[in-house]
Amino acid sequence: MKKIVSLLLAAAMMLMVAGCGGGTEPKSSGSGSGSGAKQMTMGFSQIGAESEWRTANTESIKQAAKDAGVKLIFSDAQQKQENQIKAIRSFIAQGVDIIAFVPIVETGWDTVLKEAKDAKIPVIVVDRDVKLGDDSLYVAKIGTDSVAEGHKVFKWLDEYMTKQHKQPKDGSQFQVAILEGTVGSSPALRRQQGFKDEMAASSNAGKYNIIASQTGEFTRQKGQEVMESFLKSYGNKIDVLFAHNDDMALGAIQAIEAAGMKPGKDITIVSIDGVKGIFQAMIDGKSNCTVECNPLQGPLLMETAKKILAGQKVDKLVYVEEGVFPSDKAAEVLPSRKY
Ligand code: AHR
Repeated sequence: MKKIVSLLLAAAMMLMVAGCGGGTEPKSSGSGSGSGAKQMTMGFSQIGAESEWRTANTESIKQAAKDAGVKLIFSDAQQKQENQIKAIRSFIAQGVDIIAFVPIVETGWDTVLKEAKDAKIPVIVVDRDVKLGDDSLYVAKIGTDSVAEGHKVFKWLDEYMTKQHKQPKDGSQFQVAILEGTVGSSPALRRQQGFKDEMAASSNAGKYNIIASQTGEFTRQKGQEVMESFLKSYGNKIDVLFAHNDDMALGAIQAIEAAGMKPGKDITIVSIDGVKGIFQAMIDGKSNCTVECNPLQGPLLMETAKKILAGQKVDKLVYVEEGVFPSDKAAEVLPSRKY
């Protein structure tokens, strides 16, 4: 009898250890590594291919899955949350070992993630953030710190304007135009918040005014179109353009040139991502700074997924490293850029 009780206790302890990785106890312990181990199947829902950055993010995840021997079921949501929800439900129905997804917007995930939890399939949130009533619905978030990126943008901008002895075109305040990302997405909301908070906290806050701020949906084409309309409305008043991503800045550069102005000179441009295209624009003197948002998240995603399925503890929130690259560093840095 004593033996049976101690065996039961040992089994219960093992189950507790297996569940310590986060909110969801994995239904499979296959790590995909080592001989005889079951290959891990990961269902991954990507939001689409809106930018140069996103293409790099997708490639990083696909390549890392190959390298790690993970079977990746990849689904492209074409910028629609409803397609992501359908994809996650289909991953649950297929009985994948683990689900990872890039949430296109912050809210609206509670129901589907509860379904994954009930099916005992752990979920990893990649790149963007979610807002949930219950954070135990996902095990880990791997990605970037959008608020910090917004802080860095204003900090760099203010230092640059001061060092360059720039003067507002209207003689009183620098007029800032902002191209925002996808409405409701965490990078759009948080980069804007980070920028505004840093500005409000600055002793130079009074020198800046946000004259226009509108979504360009993180795409080059929309960035160009919205910049055209900003230029029509505010003509030569705009001193600064902050684009929530490089692709929109690249579109805006075309609009500024078409309006007969010099991007990077007549209008100071700062954006976020750090893609090769913006480095080339900086070398050409058409943009002034990019704040990095690192899309190379694949290896960390696979490593984290394996740990979760092996029952190991993982950090709930892991941010990838990100730098700031002003135009005077662009030529030196471009050859080593990976995306
Ligand atoms: O979520 C990251 C953002 O989404 C990147 O800044 C942007 O380029 C992408 O489309």
